Amino acid sequence: MSRRHEGWRRAARAAAVAGAVGAAGIGYAAVIERNWFRLRRHELPLLPEGSPPLRVLHLSDAHLTPGRRMLIDWVRGLERYEPDLVVNTGDSLAHPDAVEPFVEALGPLLDRPGAFVYGSNDLFSPRPKNPARYLWRSSKKDYRDRVEPDLPWRELGAAMAGAGWLDLNNRKGRISAGGLSIAAAGVHDSHIGLDRYEEVAGPAPASADLRLGVLHSPEPANLDRFAADGYQLLLAGHTHGGQLCLPFYGTLVTNCGIDRRRAWGLNRYGRAWLNVSGGLGTSPYAPVRFCCRPEASLIDLVPARP
Ligand SMILES: [Fe+2]
Repeated sequence: MSRRHEGWRRAARAAAVAGAVGAAGIGYAAVIERNWFRLRRHELPLLPEGSPPLRVLHLSDAHLTPGRRMLIDWVRGLERYEPDLVVNTGDSLAHPDAVEPFVEALGPLLDRPGAFVYGSNDLFSPRPKNPARYLWRSSKKDYRDRVEPDLPWRELGAAMAGAGWLDLNNRKGRISAGGLSIAAAGVHDSHIGLDRYEEVAGPAPASADLRLGVLHSPEPANLDRFAADGYQLLLAGHTHGGQLCLPFYGTLVTNCGIDRRRAWGLNRYGRAWLNVSGGLGTSPYAPVRFCCRPEASLIDLVPARP
């Protein structure tokens, strides 16, 4: 065999191996990791001395389509942790028929105290796109020509509000949970310009046992104001933790103004604590996760140490 022929054979073999590794990686990201849910747990000493503990379950970014049985069953099973309060930071839907399955996923959690805000994907249905495009451009531009919502966000909100959950879209109010009084405030999604912090602005009531800020996109302009107004715990979603991450490096892009290091997980934000959920789902047109497992967070709040 000629040397040139041998060279071609080696190149073809290398290309076949690279193709197989790539296909295996995509298969892992689309089938295994996308359904490999985990519960991230923390304990935070934020409550007044002598308070009973308060268990907060933070759900976000389910992007639910009716066929996602594993996601629905996993969320439904979170009831066994007996949270005192459930907070949904939006992007629950990815299909016009997803409200009923989402309510099924919440199941008995709806009988517990709760609160919610919307994300852009609760209003506007996902569109086909290059799954890797978000690595070089924000999805904010995708909404420039979207005016009329085409997803049943009202029905979604009615289902949660009807169960007694507090609607925190540019609103504030009190929640009684676990024997404590929680002052909560939230904004609608800044990713599509619907946030109106001025509607909830002002010092959070010092009389509350906990001051809670809720928002979909962890945009610093809003986080700064929540923290300055004295909200102690800020819950957000939207980033999907990066969704496609690098081992030993983490989140590559945040899809909003938050810095890369605080785009996922529990971190300090000024005087407040910020928990950014990596989310439960993905867009149906980017159904992959890598080094960024789908998740919910369970935060046990306990009295501050004297
Ligand atoms: Fe999302």
